[in-house]
Amino acid sequence: MNHLIIYAHPHEGSFNNAILDTTVNALKSKGHEVHVRDLYSLGFNPVLSPADTAALRAGNPPADIAAEQAFLAKADFITFIYPIWWTGLPAILKGYVDRTFSYGFAYQYNSEGGIDKLFSGKKGLLINTHGTPSEIYDSIGMSQSLKQTSGGGIFEFCGIEVVDQLLFGGVTSTTDETRKDMLAQVEKKFNSL
Ligand SMILES: Cc1cc2nc3c(=O)[nH]c(=O)nc-3n(C[C@H](O)[C@H](O)[C@H](O)COP(=O)(O)O)c2cc1C
Repeated sequence: MNHLIIYAHPHEGSFNNAILDTTVNALKSKGHEVHVRDLYSLGFNPVLSPADTAALRAGNPPADIAAEQAFLAKADFITFIYPIWWTGLPAILKGYVDRTFSYGFAYQYNSEGGIDKLFSGKKGLLINTHGTPSEIYDSIGMSQSLKQTSGGGIFEFCGIEVVDQLLFGGVTSTTDETRKDMLAQVEKKFNSL
């Protein structure tokens, strides 16, 4: 299976980086084809510009968008790995979605007033960390909101079946043992696919 991992974290020694390593190792050990797009290392430009919108409308995406769309088109399974920043995606990842999940490529409106989900047939997983303890985000409905706006609002909107969205809370103040357990959950999830 062709796996595409979109990774958004600026620091090499971060916990998200450990999640990325665990994910890649789990998938490679099962013989999958794995492509990682590390948005900070790529220096991905996240701003959907007037020139971009004109080029996309003309059906002629700029080279950096076309390169990422080639990865997306070939992927059977798409995984996003990122920390929750201001209750959402880091700007670089939000901009990746703005620019590459474009109209006519990821979705389009049809004549019946509905939406053609152009990524139908693909599956996906989202893995997020956040500083607030999970019990707090669960009790105020934020965990559900995060799932609805990213797993639902981005992946499912375009037809990607969300296998799961793992939300690891309280990571900024937790123990090494708990972090190890979280990484074991990531490994188990990919082994069970
Ligand atoms: C710009 C910024 C915004 C953040 N916003 C949130 C937030 O809205 N909710 C939250 O629980 N944690 C928030 N955090 C904490 C991060 O989610 C946390 O540092 C990260 O998940 C830890 O993983 P890491 O060690 O891989 O960076 C924020 C951190 C930064 C730097």
